[in-house]
Amino acid sequence: MADDRPLLFFDSGVGGLSVLAPTRALLPRAPLVYAADSAGFPYGIRSEGEIAARVPALLGRLAERYRPRLIVIACNTASTIALGHVRAALDVPIVGTVPAIKPAAERSRSRTIGVLGTEATVRQPYVDDLAARFAADCTVLRHGSAELVQLAEACLRGAAVDPARFDAVLAGLFDQPGGKDIDVIVNACTHFPLVADALGAAATRALGRTVAFVDGGPGIARRIAALTEGQTWPDLAPPGTAVFTAAPDPALAPALGRFGLTALEQL
Ligand code: DGL
Repeated sequence: MADDRPLLFFDSGVGGLSVLAPTRALLPRAPLVYAADSAGFPYGIRSEGEIAARVPALLGRLAERYRPRLIVIACNTASTIALGHVRAALDVPIVGTVPAIKPAAERSRSRTIGVLGTEATVRQPYVDDLAARFAADCTVLRHGSAELVQLAEACLRGAAVDPARFDAVLAGLFDQPGGKDIDVIVNACTHFPLVADALGAAATRALGRTVAFVDGGPGIARRIAALTEGQTWPDLAPPGTAVFTAAPDPALAPALGRFGLTALEQL
């Protein structure tokens, strides 16, 4: 009998869609639930204590309601702070999303990489550890931007955003000492790949050359495929569900539909 238990993706807002998309491409028959803690959004300006308490509790409720076969914390902020707490609390395989510093270091020729995340993520010891392990011979410049999270949310709601606002965000990296040498930027917040084109254009405007952007989405998709190898899926993926902790915003429905999420619910 086909196993119809879903994969459950969790983020504070719409950012986790950048992780869901490559997973959906790799596992097209997987039933999907996308959960956004819209009542707790944004996470990037919250304290470690708040996130460490909030995320495991919410995931516990979501796991009870949807009985997922696997949970993906599709949020760097929640993963770098609360991954251990969630794994200790739940008896479901958990995949986290952490800054893709390793692939960035493998790719950089200038040996100067940028890490663009939320303020909460870029100050985490988890990031110090990734930089020490995988980019010890690189200069790793960090910038936390709550503004870019808001811009990505606005774009997904169909708003037109002034390109100068992306320029201002990237100046936070390029204007640091040595910042002009950056050739690879880690999108260390799942919201940011959703505005990849605008970021790429802003980087080219600033430096007069292209900059590569990397994120964890494709690697996470491969990890999920490996962890679910041998499991069965429905013949046809059922419509995906998006669940919010506050009332769902109808302005998001078209974008969610593009990711296969057609049922909107509130937790
Ligand atoms: N998408 C989230 C991340 O990957 C957090 C955005 C926010 O709520 O500040 O860090």
